[in-house]
Order: sequence, then C-alpha cells, then structure tokens
Amino acid sequence: MLNWEDPLAATQAPKPEAVVAAADPVVTSSVRAEAELATVGDLAREPSVAASSPVAAAAYSELGDDENLRGTGLEDIEMGASRIRVDDKKIINCHADLNQLVPFKYDWAWQKYLDACANHWMPQEINMTADIALWKDPNGLTDDERTIIKRNLGFFSTADSLVANNLVLAVYRHVTNPECRQYLLRQAFEEALHTHAYQYCVESLGLDEGEIFNMYREVPTVARKAEWALPFTKHLADPHFQTGTPENDQRLLRELIAFYVIFEGIFFYVGFTQILSMGRRNKMTGVAEQFQYIMRDESMHMNFGIDVINQIKMENPHLWTEEFQQEMTSLITEAVELEIQYAKDTMPRGVLGLNAKMFEEYLQFIANRRCSQIGLAEQYDGVSNPFPWMSEVIDLKKEKNFFETRVTEYQTGGALNWD
Ligand SMILES: [Fe+2]
Ligand SMILES: [Fe+2]
Repeated sequence: MLNWEDPLAATQAPKPEAVVAAADPVVTSSVRAEAELATVGDLAREPSVAASSPVAAAAYSELGDDENLRGTGLEDIEMGASRIRVDDKKIINCHADLNQLVPFKYDWAWQKYLDACANHWMPQEINMTADIALWKDPNGLTDDERTIIKRNLGFFSTADSLVANNLVLAVYRHVTNPECRQYLLRQAFEEALHTHAYQYCVESLGLDEGEIFNMYREVPTVARKAEWALPFTKHLADPHFQTGTPENDQRLLRELIAFYVIFEGIFFYVGFTQILSMGRRNKMTGVAEQFQYIMRDESMHMNFGIDVINQIKMENPHLWTEEFQQEMTSLITEAVELEIQYAKDTMPRGVLGLNAKMFEEYLQFIANRRCSQIGLAEQYDGVSNPFPWMSEVIDLKKEKNFFETRVTEYQTGGALNWD
C-alpha cells in the first residue's frame, strides 16, 4: 500500500493506454483503479472509445440494461441530454440525473442539511466523570433509576442502527432527489454518531455490553418496537422493489411514516423524557447531555421526514386515499399503545416525579401533533402536555451550554479515559 511519504512518481497514474498492462506487478491496485476511472471519464465524453479500452469495455459488457438502476443515479450518462430544470425534479420517480445537486428545488432539504452540519457534535466531547462516580456509588442511584438507564441504552443502541440500516438500504434508493439525498447522507452519519454515543455510555459506565446490546432480543417491550418496524424496511430493501405504481408508492409512503413519524417521532420519546428528567435532577448528567444532542438531531430527522411525506403527498395526491389515511391513523394509535407498554415496563413504579400514566397522556399529546403534521385528524380529545419543559430542550441551541461541558483534552478520533 502507498502512503504519503512515498516518492511522488510512484503514485502517479499511468497513461490510459497503460491500463491494459494491469498485470504489471509495479502498478498497484489503487493506481489501476484511478486509471480505470480516468478511462471511464473518457468514455463518457466519447462513448465510441469503449472498444479501445479493454478494461472498461469488459466492465460494460458484463452489465445488463439499466432497468434495475432506474432512478438510482447510476444509469449510463446520456451525452448531450438537455440540462436539468427545476421542474424536472420530484421526490419520487424522478428520471432526471441524480448526480447533479443543483438547481435546487427543495430549499428546505438543503437548509436542513446545512443546519444539521452546523449542529455537529461528537460523543467524546461530553464529560462522563460525574456519571461514572454516581454509577459506581452503591447508594448513588435507586434500582428503578438504574433500570431506566439500562433499558434505554438497550433500546436506543440497536434502534439507531436499525434506523441507519433503513436509511442506507431502503429509503435512500427510492428518494430520487439529490438535495434530499444530501440530507439523508448527513442523517445516516448522525445515526452512526448516536449508536456511538450509546456505546460510549455503556463503555464509560462499565455496563455489561452483552446485556445491553441483546435487549432487543431478550426484553419483550424493546423487541416489540423493533419487530414492529422491521417489515416496513424489509419491503423497501428488497432489490426487486421499485416505486412507480400506486401500490408501491404507497408502500414507500407507509414506510416513511412508520420510520420518521412513528419510530423516530413516537418510540423515542419515553426514553428521551426519562433520561432528560434524570439530568434535570442532576443525575447522570453526561448521559443526559448525550441524549439532549441526540434528541435535537432526531427532532430534525423527524421534521425532514414530515416535509418529505407532505411533498410526496402534494406531488402524488392520488396516494393519499381515505383508506390509506385510516390505515396510517391506525398505525399511529397502535404505536402509542406499544410505547405506553414500554413506559410501564421501564418504570413499573413512579420515579423521578414521573409515572406511566403521565406518559400515556404525553404520548397521546405527541400522537395528536404527529397526526396533524401529516394532515390526519387528531385522535385523542382533551389531552395536554404534562412535560412542557421537553419542548424547551428540543429547541436547545448548541451554544447554550455545549462548550462549558466540553473537555479540555478533547481529541478528535481518540478515546479519552475518564477515570
Ligand atoms: Fe438517531
Ligand atoms: Fe434519527
């Protein structure tokens, strides 16, 4: 493998005709790859060159037609095709080239990408010292408080990986708009950061990794939420699945509602509230701070998803049938019941001034909001928000207290030892 200290000459790509000498042991695989890319670039400018480049011609000859790649951005480059106009762009079933970010059509998607980048944070920036001391102190926390910490780390540590896999393996391919894809790429990275944050908490506190990461197989209320979401993503991740029919477009819309509105918009909120309540009482403040930043990210993910859902509805009104709306409403009310069970399971008795009954009202309040955000009728009469402070935390600005808690020895990519 080459590195930066190697003489420059060794890293220079051979001229295109040298690609045929790929068997030359001096030519490394990375150099060959560069040369092949250069050759494909030439092909794009002049397709007839294919015959004179055996490597690229062989690669092309192994490909079938582009039918399965339609709408992915990996179709052949169409030389001389007319330039992309804003009106050509659509969230789903768009046939304009997806490798061109501009001209923008959906400014809200680009703005969310910029906002998400401006909110960048890393789990190691948060000081876990007080949490470690409290966790190790036998009298530091009650058993119920410890259950809350462990259950939520158990749920979220696998839930965020599921969301990331859903984005990368299912959603991304079917969202045919470059500015939305730009946000999806940022979101996927944030999901990785969230899984990293949970792992960092588990490691810092010295918890049993096997116990935490297997909860979604071993604790029924954690398993049920993941099981509920899996079928939606499986349909879309099927390589034979294509949008373009009303039935399949509804399937995509249903999946987006299941993940953005319900999974990230309802299933996360008992855990967020419990952990942040702990932080408000000056307990496990490092874990709580991690959750604050995660919740801020998640709130933006959900808002992005809601914008996408509403845009798809606007562009494809035939999908939003009465029957489909009823089905989506049932999905939301069913999810509220699952999350109420999760609340009861994580706090069988009242703790931190919270109890499962308050969560029932909170979830109904949230569900009403989610319904109205996507144009469905609210389902629960006379409910109000028992946790108004949660809204303030969601709107947290990074500048508010982020750097006060940042460790002075912060090192990007390194692991700090808090002991
Ligand atoms: Fe996440
Ligand atoms: Fe998310």
